[in-house]
Amino acid sequence: MSQQSRIPRLLVLALLAGGAAAGAAGVEYWHSTRASTSTAAEGTVPNGSAIERLESLVASQSHSMADVGYHWTNLWFAGEKRNWPLAEFYFNEARQHILWTIRIRPIRKDLDQRDVDLKALFDAVDSTTMAAVKIALMQRDPVKFAAAYKGALEGCYACHKASGKPYLRPVVPHAPAQDIIDFGSDAPVGP
Ligand code: HEC
Repeated sequence: MSQQSRIPRLLVLALLAGGAAAGAAGVEYWHSTRASTSTAAEGTVPNGSAIERLESLVASQSHSMADVGYHWTNLWFAGEKRNWPLAEFYFNEARQHILWTIRIRPIRKDLDQRDVDLKALFDAVDSTTMAAVKIALMQRDPVKFAAAYKGALEGCYACHKASGKPYLRPVVPHAPAQDIIDFGSDAPVGP
């Protein structure tokens, strides 16, 4: 993905900016979750203040949300195969990427140009529909999981609608987004 090549530059700029602790933490998060193949010397740095430069390099909400779609898709199939450790992994990844999306742009406009507080919306979803998925995973209950997953999709959609994007309607996926991972529950777990 395109943001992969941007991470080291972003990291360097975040450190240069000084005091941008929150930004650096976010960048570290990206860095720890994404393998990178480029170097800090690559490309050119745009003009402007350090903050402007950081803003121009930060991944878009669309990118981080596409990751959420990816993780949430895989979560369904891990749960279907009762591979609970893998399902928990994808659940946690999705949740982290939603948080990252919010950090990128905490306030959006709805269709009527009113402010939408994404953090408040997420807190509502996180403590209800997403929490139900987490509980089903902890209980390793496939029936509860399937129901909670579908309920959580409504939570996803509620935020999309509130953000002025009612056309982004997540549904139960037809195929995993990840092909190289063994989704079966007989896949090795733990050391
Ligand atoms: C806190 C609000 C919020 C929650 C909760 C949320 N989303 Fe999103 N999502 C957004 C916003 C805002 C966008 C549009 C980003 C943009 O500007 O492109 C989006 C976009 C998307 C996209 C389109 C990405 C692309 O560009 O292709 C997908 C897929 C997606 N979300 C999946 C999910 C799923 C699955 C969930 C639930 C597990 C979820 N989202 C929960 C706010 C949210």
